[in-house]
Amino acid sequence: MYKISITDSLIQNAVSLESSQRLLAEKGGMSAEYSTRVARNVNMEKLQSNYLFPEIAAREMKHRKKYPNAKVISLGIGDTTQPIPLNVALSMANFAQALSTPEGYSGYGLEQGNQELRKAVAATMYKDLPVKDTEIFISDGSQSEISRLQLLLGPHVSIAVQDQSFPAYVDSGVIIGQTGDYDHASGRYRNIEYMKCGPENNFFPDLSKTPRTDIIFFCSPNNPTGHASSREQLTQLVEFAQRNGSIIIFDSAYAAFVSDGSPRSIFEIPGARKVAIEVASFSKLAGFTGIRLGWTVVPDELLYSDGFPVQHDFNRIICTCFNGASKVAQAGGLACLSPEGLKAINSVVDYYKENASILIDSFTSLGLDVYGGRNAPYVWVHFPGSKSWDVFNEILEKTHIITVPGSGFGPGGEGFLRVTAFGQRDDILEASRRIKSLL
Ligand SMILES: Cc1ncc(COP(=O)(O)O)c(C=O)c1O
Repeated sequence: MYKISITDSLIQNAVSLESSQRLLAEKGGMSAEYSTRVARNVNMEKLQSNYLFPEIAAREMKHRKKYPNAKVISLGIGDTTQPIPLNVALSMANFAQALSTPEGYSGYGLEQGNQELRKAVAATMYKDLPVKDTEIFISDGSQSEISRLQLLLGPHVSIAVQDQSFPAYVDSGVIIGQTGDYDHASGRYRNIEYMKCGPENNFFPDLSKTPRTDIIFFCSPNNPTGHASSREQLTQLVEFAQRNGSIIIFDSAYAAFVSDGSPRSIFEIPGARKVAIEVASFSKLAGFTGIRLGWTVVPDELLYSDGFPVQHDFNRIICTCFNGASKVAQAGGLACLSPEGLKAINSVVDYYKENASILIDSFTSLGLDVYGGRNAPYVWVHFPGSKSWDVFNEILEKTHIITVPGSGFGPGGEGFLRVTAFGQRDDILEASRRIKSLL
């Protein structure tokens, strides 16, 4: 059977993107002789087409053509590589098999998710916290959930993001109409508050200088910097939201990687239930990037300015725009949260964390300042005075290693590279040797 790898598919996307752009240019902006009378969504026009990963894939493809015999190692895209535990795979297989029998068949599930799974998430992920199973909504992963949350919020809210951040917050904000145009000079969209988070402020914004926005997207441990915000930092964030009457959308996609006692959930912070929503995912927790499963916590106490519960509207959104996560995936999620499943998924997380330590040592040995990697699968390396894409090219040329230019995550990422620890150990060790040889 032909197996398409993530790299292959990214390369194909990049090729088709490139050829459709060429076609468009050749035809003077028209891609066909016949066109409909439907105007393009103006918000889609604002989006920047040079999306980071297709651009990386295009450069990788060019490099492979230039060096057909080189073994290229990808420390770029943040996709998992290790197999999922057998008990988890079997639970999905058994569930799927039962669907072929009259007794085992069932159709739609509850939009909010399987009750048993919601209870298991509450009991394992929020063990000592006041999060109820009824506040947990099972999703098909956090990326689509971020867009559903944007639909909930609508075009008229103001938003803030960490600079640097995972691109989905900004792009979904652009699509829904929360932003102005893109300003090429600053590399920013108008009407978004970019909260600078770098080594100079311990990767946490100076809130005394941050203007109020309705919504604050905040990710910890952060993609791409790998920084896990401390309890004190998140307490400041919650107090800031309380003072301003803002809502925090807290992305805890990498919570499982936290090992230094930093909060794994915003609900560890007193008062967060009145000001926060949390989006979480099985993707990096359990290697479910392709299976698609996550959850979102919308507390009862979170209210709009008129006192209406946000949770009621969110429920309406998921009933209208989402019909519940795959039952097969949910069976897998339930198995992940069994004692046996938790033990197995934690050991995979530990494996990636060992990879991260190897990468930290490798870059540190070059005398570089290296951040992240201790509570996250991402290592954030600083190349002061250099442009991220130049360093990306140089490392690719000299070591055949793919990384991600930090500037792709926001203007504050200029001069940094993100390196992922989601690799096979042999590749990580080989990459480490090649990086050290740069000395
Ligand atoms: C910070 C962050 N949030 C959300 C996601 C999306 O995760 P999911 O696979 O659950 O859609 C990612 C994926 O890389 C991520 O890095």
